[in-house]
Amino acid sequence: PKAEPCTIVIFGASGDLTKRKLIPALYDLACIGCISGQQFDVLGTGRTEMTTDEFRKAMRDAASTSKDARKFSDWNWEEFEKRLHYFPGDINNDGFYHALKDQLSEIEKNGGSSNHLFYVSTQASLAPPIVQGLGKCGLSKNEKGWTRIVLEKPFGRDLESAKALNREVLQVFDEKDVYRIDHYLGKETVQNILVFRFGNSLFEPIWNRNYINSVEITAAETLGVEQRAAFYEETGALRDMVANHLLQLVTLTAMEPPVAFDADSVREQKVQVLRAIHHMTPEQVCERTVRGQYGPGKINGKDVPGYREEPGVKPDSRTETYVAVEFRIDNWRWAGVPFYVRSGKRLAKSETEIKIHFKRTPQALFAKTSDDDIEANVITLRVQPNEGITMSFAAKQPGAQMKAVPVKMDFSYQTAFGGQAPVAYETLLLDAMRGDPTLFTRGDEAENQWRIITPIEDAWLQLPVPKFPNYAAGSDGPEEANTLIAEECKKWSPIG
Ligand code: BG6
Repeated sequence: PKAEPCTIVIFGASGDLTKRKLIPALYDLACIGCISGQQFDVLGTGRTEMTTDEFRKAMRDAASTSKDARKFSDWNWEEFEKRLHYFPGDINNDGFYHALKDQLSEIEKNGGSSNHLFYVSTQASLAPPIVQGLGKCGLSKNEKGWTRIVLEKPFGRDLESAKALNREVLQVFDEKDVYRIDHYLGKETVQNILVFRFGNSLFEPIWNRNYINSVEITAAETLGVEQRAAFYEETGALRDMVANHLLQLVTLTAMEPPVAFDADSVREQKVQVLRAIHHMTPEQVCERTVRGQYGPGKINGKDVPGYREEPGVKPDSRTETYVAVEFRIDNWRWAGVPFYVRSGKRLAKSETEIKIHFKRTPQALFAKTSDDDIEANVITLRVQPNEGITMSFAAKQPGAQMKAVPVKMDFSYQTAFGGQAPVAYETLLLDAMRGDPTLFTRGDEAENQWRIITPIEDAWLQLPVPKFPNYAAGSDGPEEANTLIAEECKKWSPIG
């Protein structure tokens, strides 16, 4: 598919995301022919004073070293960089938006497109003034073409702020033109959850409380807080990962089949799951959540400091770098099935996966090979790395005895399809340029995510803070997390 002609205006173009993700993704799309050189322009804006030439050079340096840009070559880049422009300015100043309007007219006069995609990649608190500025100077409406706005995460920091931001945005734009990005939805393996569930007749009949015992979702990272202490101190693992990426994985795993694969049908079913997720009382927050913070330890054999020793982190910081939560989905399909979700920084391995634990057979007919029970069936959807799907089941061990041992059936993306899948930002940017919001978060979806998360944050503020640090960098997280899962799977699956 091809992008529609457009000019992309990036707010926050001198920031990290633009050079690490957005420009490499756009460049790649240009290289594979999804964006035509004609009628495609990028107008970067930001507080940093820079000329267009300096911007092009900075973007070239970033794209040529990006692990995401697959086909860097000088020739392609020279063509591509002609489409990049930079225009510095202060987003709090009304005059800036009028000047921006003039810049866009100038691009159009030189043969550029009159379709506008505004991409807000600034810190979250700057989104409202940008939206207002665009509204006031008339840039949110466009008689000559379409106008869309992409808003980066985080979309607010609690239910109230998400509602306020939605009100602000919807005063200026129509919901159909608002693209709230969650890059997990752009991952091939995340989209494949839907194909796995609804493109096969095999799994859907058993995808419910009659056959499934529990669902375990893990997003583990070996990375620490990196250079983002200021942001992370205010955010923590629950807001950073669970409020968006992991709730997206929950909704895709749990949703009912949509009537069609289109934005409204899919998003409607996802919202229904969020609406059915039990809103926790403070007592339930105590029982169903565990927070952790990493101390010093070893990652890949190398010593790494604890969170409180990281530059920019308070020495007595209460910010969680690990969280485990048990969600309950109160609907017909999932009543009684716990969804165990965990995410943390500086864990043993980087891995994101969903494990569907099935019920055991009603009777143990066969001899066991160890003291453990025969393992129940598990389907593992591996989001990253080693993208693929594994099914574990029992098989007869060769020999005179009827002994059952667990074996695996494995599907690997690499083996089946080879090559390299598009990175998430490429998929999502292309969708935004094509006008397909299916893989973006709808306004009520964002609010419903916060409706689940905000009571947990509020209860944590009232509860005594756990004794941090409570896990070593390079471990599987705090030991206490196992208490959460004790009855169902006995323990969290080992990471890695
Ligand atoms: C981001 C979070 O949204 O997702 C980061 O802010 C996290 O803290 C990142 O590292 C993880 O994304 P991925 O694609 O590497 O799993």
